[in-house]
Amino acid sequence: MKLVFAGALVVMGLAAAAAFAQSAPPAAAPADAAALPGWAYPANPALPEFDAKEEKTLPGSSRKYTQAQVENDFAPPDWFPEDHPPMPSVVANGRTPAVKACSKCHVTTGGGHPESSDLAGLPEAYIVRQMADFKDGHRKGARAGSMFPIAKAVSDEEVREAAKYYAALPRLAWNKVVETDTVPKTELRVGGMRFAIDGTEPIGNRIIELPQAPERAHLRDSRFGFVANVPVGSLKRGEALVKGSAGQTQPCATCHGPDLKGLGEVPHLTGRSPMYVFRQLNDIKIGSRAGANAELMRPVVANLSESDMLAISAYLASLSP
Ligand code: HEC
Ligand code: HEC
Repeated sequence: MKLVFAGALVVMGLAAAAAFAQSAPPAAAPADAAALPGWAYPANPALPEFDAKEEKTLPGSSRKYTQAQVENDFAPPDWFPEDHPPMPSVVANGRTPAVKACSKCHVTTGGGHPESSDLAGLPEAYIVRQMADFKDGHRKGARAGSMFPIAKAVSDEEVREAAKYYAALPRLAWNKVVETDTVPKTELRVGGMRFAIDGTEPIGNRIIELPQAPERAHLRDSRFGFVANVPVGSLKRGEALVKGSAGQTQPCATCHGPDLKGLGEVPHLTGRSPMYVFRQLNDIKIGSRAGANAELMRPVVANLSESDMLAISAYLASLSP
């Protein structure tokens, strides 16, 4: 968009361009929610009333929870305790009134959901720094709202415990990537989670991530991840950009490690939710994610378009974690 506009100014000549600029409506502020691609920044629909009677079960689990218990911010479900080490209380239960249990959104095993993020196997120091960035406003992305009150109320000790827990978990093969022209029609439910409904539609310039096992995702299961539908051609294009051969950005491997699996405190990029990764690239580009370390990312994203960032995210998600 910007390039086309600059080109038009040159063609029109300066005087005409100045007149045009005056009459043109002001550009939307970049952080304006309306300007953000909705597929990557899902809104949270109004909460329905959750059923508190029927106890649900999952194959392989001896536990039972009603939907109201599944949605409990301070005692979310732990369907498979044998799948993870003992959780510190901040991860399992949080602390009332403001520190919601980390495992509610990021899941006991750290796979997370595309509308939040995965945490398994991120560097401990990186997690601690993100909590500080959420707290002091360096990280204020449009989809990060649930993290602000938590980061303000959580203690340093709780942050250390949560960071240590998630950093030690193995990274999961949680996201499958499929190139496609057509996707199911979808709707957003509790917490901004996206589910298929009847019918199909063109994918367009979007990534549509859907749970591999929708009923289980509703129950905040920790064993099934997501399928990311991405536009045809994204993977090849993304690979070229990630390797820096397109001359438009720096090779990601310089800082994220030769195999993109992380380097020191710099997080891994492989096998993660492409919707989450896109959102971060975009937040850094529009300035809603800053901070001393994120500054290093600014030149990386400066000349990337939305479709470049989409292709990069799709390719990275397709790599083994
Ligand atoms: C109510 C849901 C919710 C809860 C509970 C929650 N988070 Fe988050 N968290 C999110 C969302 C949403 C994001 C994604 C923000 C974005 O897109 O920028 C996020 C992102 C993060 C990130 C950034 C990950 C990265 O790769 O940079 C960290 C770290 C994090 N959360 C830690 C925690 C910890 C620790 C707790 C518990 C003390 C917690 N979260 C509880 C919703 C939640
Ligand atoms: C000059 C070093 C450098 C280069 C090159 C670089 N990165 Fe980064 N990147 C970083 C650092 C440092 C961070 C951590 C920022 C922080 O701590 O907030 C980061 C963070 C990220 C994040 C956020 C991860 C999360 O968990 O939220 C994404 C996504 C990302 N980089 C993608 C890329 C991609 C894609 C490329 C290549 C096109 C790239 N980076 C190239 C240094 C770099």
